Amino acid sequence: MSTGAETDQIMAHAAKLAAEAGVDLSKLPKNLDMTSETITENVHVMNSGCTDERLKFIMKNLINHLHDFVKETSITSEEWMSALMFLTRTGQTCTPLRQEFILLSDILGVSSLVDDLNHPTSGGATEATVLGPFFTEDALHFENGESIASEGKGDYMWVEGRVLDLKGNPISGAIIDTWETDGHGKYDNQYDDRAASGPECRGRITTTENGDYFFRAIVPVSYPIPGDATVGEALKALGRHVFRPAHLHMMLTAPGFEKLTTALYFKGDPYLYSDAVFGVKSSLVVEMTTETDPEVSRKRGFLNATSHKVLKHDFVLQTVEEAAVVRKTKMEEAKASVSKKKTAA
Ligand SMILES: [Fe+2]
Repeated sequence: MSTGAETDQIMAHAAKLAAEAGVDLSKLPKNLDMTSETITENVHVMNSGCTDERLKFIMKNLINHLHDFVKETSITSEEWMSALMFLTRTGQTCTPLRQEFILLSDILGVSSLVDDLNHPTSGGATEATVLGPFFTEDALHFENGESIASEGKGDYMWVEGRVLDLKGNPISGAIIDTWETDGHGKYDNQYDDRAASGPECRGRITTTENGDYFFRAIVPVSYPIPGDATVGEALKALGRHVFRPAHLHMMLTAPGFEKLTTALYFKGDPYLYSDAVFGVKSSLVVEMTTETDPEVSRKRGFLNATSHKVLKHDFVLQTVEEAAVVRKTKMEEAKASVSKKKTAA
């Protein structure tokens, strides 16, 4: 048993540590014996010194939902540890070129939900969809008409269209980042030699004075998202498949306009209705045509082809201000729908 002098020494040491760390012990709760009835409120009190009001608000909601989740599911200690180990392995799978957490967010529908609330559109603007885990910053810049894919990577596809504002005016100088799978259904960063071989089947194009863009690419194909780690385990356990319908990713930026992250899907793809990451929107489903005039193939730079596929699509961007108005409405509606659900329950 400690003596009175020892106790004083311990208290003094604790107070010194608190002072050094800038902690005001007088403002913290004096609660002990946490129970399922008191723990939630106590965490909120402990977090109450947070000076970032937005962070405090988000954390309060997260704690409430997490604690309610534990109570509603009667989760066992083994199940909770298993969840923590799952998240640990998810983090350990990530590398500078592989993002398992984004993929996890995607298959849980969270990426799609966040996108829908943050990037809603109106008035005919092009809809957004999930970024996915395969975007990289190191895409090369190409001139219009050049190819983002090396020879032999897949079936030839010509892509063209315009980038416009909501009034139909062309947007010149818009930057289009585009990336796609090769004909084997793999992105360049899924290959082990990516660091040495560099970017492939991806590129950056700038719209012309008239808002036009056009480039050579290959026909992307349906593909399985990486199933060799935690996301694959989760999908298997949930009785789900790993496939995404074929698509061409496009990310558009232009000064004064809301950044648009989207993708184009292809009519008839068998996975359109069960996309593993919930990215398909009907307005983004397009139909390719086939150009069979060999002369056109030659003029477009497909020197070894007598025909090629053609994908034509115009993109319509909202200004930053237009997007802000639509986003505010969308977020308020979503919040109201949750309150309504709670009231009904
Ligand atoms: Fe993709």
